Amino acid sequence: MRTLVFDTPAEASQKAFELVRESLENGSTTFGLATGSTPEKLYELIVASDLDFSQASSINLDEYYGLTKQDPQSYAYFMKKHLISHKPFKNVYIPDGEAQDIDAELARYDKIIEENPIDLQILGIGNNGHIGFNEPPADFNGRTQFIDLDQSTIEANARLFDSIDEVPTKALTMGIKSIMDSKKIILMAFGEEKARAVQKLIEGPVDPMVPASVLQNHPDVVVLLDKASAQFLA
Ligand code: GLP
Repeated sequence: MRTLVFDTPAEASQKAFELVRESLENGSTTFGLATGSTPEKLYELIVASDLDFSQASSINLDEYYGLTKQDPQSYAYFMKKHLISHKPFKNVYIPDGEAQDIDAELARYDKIIEENPIDLQILGIGNNGHIGFNEPPADFNGRTQFIDLDQSTIEANARLFDSIDEVPTKALTMGIKSIMDSKKIILMAFGEEKARAVQKLIEGPVDPMVPASVLQNHPDVVVLLDKASAQFLA
């Protein structure tokens, strides 16, 4: 893992943008994308750029279960708002949080990932070390999963909802094995609330209780931090 620490999230996001540009220019066609506050600036930079993704595919990490795609809290809505409606992609794949047949949806998503190997995966990290919505203890061999959200994740994400009761308790997420199959991974983490998870990600043992720690076993991961999230690193 290569770790780069920047003074501000904006500078780290600029570096992420440059890595995305390089990847696109080097022929990448499939981009694994994340939601959350962390990648917002990166998406802003992509939208403001002249980068052309019209021949590329995006595959999102995860989606809440039980929200409609029009719900402003859904990740489908987030992606449309922050990226897709401004920067067209040839194909946009997001797990279907309205699926009635969950097993069929998990299989559909696995097939999409299998048919479109991910060249570059963008990741954030949860306060509890989750990636996508792979909560601890994570199945390092898992493919797309239907999961119960951790209470700590529900509490962390409640800031984006009117009340904690509105936060979905279940979600669909790409599995750790699929994330690990990506050729290259960029993980971004900003702010002091991420500092403990970042320390465990980088300096802790590889442990299913810290799902992101498995990235230590991936050959090409760049971790982009700001000073606050890097504060506990040796
Ligand atoms: C969310 C998402 C993750 C995201 C993480 C951090 O619950 N499922 O994909 O990386 O938690 O979110 P944020 O960037 O808003 O801190």
